[in-house]
Amino acid sequence: MPKPVTPRPRGVWTAARLRELIARAYRGESVIVLANRAPFQCDFAPDGSIIVKRSSGGLVTALEPVMEACAGVWIAGRSGSAGRNFVDGSRARAGAAANRSYRVRHVSLDPHEERGYYYGFANEGLWPLCHRTGVRPVFRRGDFNAYRAVNGAFADAACEEAASDRPLVLVQDYHFALVPRMIRERLPLARAVSFWHIPWPRPRDFAACPCGRQLVEGLLGASVVGFQTEDDCRNFIDTVECTLDADIDRERNTIAYEGRRTAIRAYPVSVEWPSRWARQSSSVAECRAEVSRRLGLPADVRLAVGVDRLDYTKGIVEKFLAAERLLASHPEFRGRFVLVQLAEPSRECLPSYRELRSRVRDTADCINARFGGNAYRPIVLLEAHHQPADVYRFLRAADVCYVGSLHDGMNLVAKEFVSARDDERGVLVLSGFAGAARELSAAMIVNPYAIDDAARALAGGLNMPDADQSTRMRAMRSVIAQHNSYTWAGKMLTDAAFLDSAVPSVSNTADTSRHTSPEEAVR
Ligand code: F6P
Repeated sequence: MPKPVTPRPRGVWTAARLRELIARAYRGESVIVLANRAPFQCDFAPDGSIIVKRSSGGLVTALEPVMEACAGVWIAGRSGSAGRNFVDGSRARAGAAANRSYRVRHVSLDPHEERGYYYGFANEGLWPLCHRTGVRPVFRRGDFNAYRAVNGAFADAACEEAASDRPLVLVQDYHFALVPRMIRERLPLARAVSFWHIPWPRPRDFAACPCGRQLVEGLLGASVVGFQTEDDCRNFIDTVECTLDADIDRERNTIAYEGRRTAIRAYPVSVEWPSRWARQSSSVAECRAEVSRRLGLPADVRLAVGVDRLDYTKGIVEKFLAAERLLASHPEFRGRFVLVQLAEPSRECLPSYRELRSRVRDTADCINARFGGNAYRPIVLLEAHHQPADVYRFLRAADVCYVGSLHDGMNLVAKEFVSARDDERGVLVLSGFAGAARELSAAMIVNPYAIDDAARALAGGLNMPDADQSTRMRAMRSVIAQHNSYTWAGKMLTDAAFLDSAVPSVSNTADTSRHTSPEEAVR
């Protein structure tokens, strides 16, 4: 069968268009990114050599192609045990990054800071605060102090990297809520964009955070605050209304506070299009053969694949229960169905993550004991980091990709699956509680808590005729072709350039008609 042509609609954002925007609207200013994680992790192997792995997580998936396109500097705190030796200063680069067009700068954190900022405030506090999963957030004063100190160190690094008094700074995620205001205090003309990759909670839930006011004030230092969905934007604006005496324009989605205006917009994060990993992969048939050989699967097995960090928001246990229910209710799948779960260990210092990991293992063991036998295991749990090439091999081999998040800002695995399937086959079973469900409505949308329904959807996906698979996959591929990672960055940067020039301050509402939008300038 000839390979279907990858759709590339007219007027889409590409790396070249993004570069052009920066050259014209930002006069070639180089991009400064602040992110907790470096794009790769460098760890010492037992023999002293260095192992370089690409970092997992949606943030790196979306941002890396953007930085490849724009050049500039990526300032990061976490880059593995050997990271700071190899990802340092303005020149040295880790092995795998040697050919990249951007630099990586490492901000050193001592163990006390890392514990308080990353494990404590960010991941025991903000992460459960922002995700509805029933895990209670924990807030400690000392953790917030560490968070503020680390935010200060990142703001310093950004200001040091600024080549002018109007740098373009992209602040990523919940690790750096205080940074935009800190940068604004030092460089009032800076164009800072803050993108929050995870959901924003409703105001009554956010109220549990004792330092909520500082976080919101910190974010409002940005020209644009971006979220994954309109719901997140609405929750944020409602939160500001409950927290600060700010002037809110709900028609334009802007907030004026302390003499300046911030736009609040949804920019759904996405993947590179076309995907370099799909392009570099073997054919779908070869991927399937490789996976079958590696796992010893029979030729006629129906294969479902899950790819997640071992995180309680991802609904891995519920996914296993849906697979169990499928085997209980559809005996014809016994011996002929396997769910392979790639599960990357994550945040292992925290008890909630250790508990989740053992629950995931126990659930897999129970199901394998109940329905497995001889060499057959219906659940294959691969607890390890997997490089993108390997992840794409599994995604291309799958009959079904199951994304069962209990709550998720976006979930880029869903979009990666679609970008992986240039054969227009394979079924996406997708939680309605993942941001991706807004755009990927041609997926089989499930409630991951409703185990019977999810099992039915799994059966429907495994039995779906080729023509239906193709119709759904084509629809999803054309969505992602239009809304790729360059669209995500391009729209944010267009808004930041335009809004800054058109509405410099509340007290001085300029005549916007004089200004040409950079979007127009670039066309
Ligand atoms: O998809 C983005 C994201 O969920 C971030 O919000 C998060 O920082 C990352 O993936 C993975 O988490 P960590 O860096 O703590 O492993």
